[in-house]
Amino acid sequence: MSGFKKIVVLTGAGISADSGVPTFRHAGGIWAKYDYRDVATPEGFAANPALVHEFYNLRRAGMVSVEPNAAHVALAWMEAALADSGGELTVVTQNVDDLHERGGGRNLLHMHGELAKIRCTKCGMVSGWLEDLFVDTVCPACSATRALRPHIVWFGEMPMLMDEITQKIAAADLFVSIGTSGSVYPAAGFVAEAKALGIRCIEINLEPSDTAGLFDETHYGPAAEIVPAWVKEAMMT
Ligand code: APR
Repeated sequence: MSGFKKIVVLTGAGISADSGVPTFRHAGGIWAKYDYRDVATPEGFAANPALVHEFYNLRRAGMVSVEPNAAHVALAWMEAALADSGGELTVVTQNVDDLHERGGGRNLLHMHGELAKIRCTKCGMVSGWLEDLFVDTVCPACSATRALRPHIVWFGEMPMLMDEITQKIAAADLFVSIGTSGSVYPAAGFVAEAKALGIRCIEINLEPSDTAGLFDETHYGPAAEIVPAWVKEAMMT
């Protein structure tokens, strides 16, 4: 990767699409089937926790039944190759699946939380959890009932790790956005932040995102094809 030493890669649902994980805003996407207010807001959880648990139980079961694709694996390879040469690649993902991890990624910041984790609203415990979760599931740490929730950032809640993400972007010499529609902030604003700092910005997506006009370079097509090809070309130069 000639010259580029500190790379921040923002990923969205599009990088997992080729693994069979549904995106949100594509035809037939998740928000075409569910009203996000019912299943992805604190108010929705308070009104009907059983429906929210069912929504995330279905997505958690879906996640364990799919595999990382060539895009996840290529990014993990790039991360390791850069680390070997004293560089750093950080994946900031909006995705809550664990496909970056299972594809070999290590340097990951999940800004919208993780499907594979749950949190207790009483004691604050966050732990790995791959089974179904129900309203009356007892907290393994404090035994509270009706206190567990998915460790997911809902609409109206603050995304996680924002200070660290801001620092990583400020220190980067390349910003790459992969598989996101650029329609949800603050993630959709990261490219403008990078541009203002004079950082080169690349978009890799199935089609131009809402912020496509801000990128210096764009590559369109399925991530499982485009990302490995881009990594190969980028690491050769
Ligand atoms: N390869 C690459 N990109 C793809 C592919 C593919 N095979 N399939 C779809 N895409 C692109 C779509 O063109 C779209 O631009 O991925 C993007 C997915 O956009 P969204 O469905 O809006 O998903 P995302 O951008 O990750 O949503 C951001 O919104 O609902 C919230 O919290 C949720 O993290 C999510 C956030």
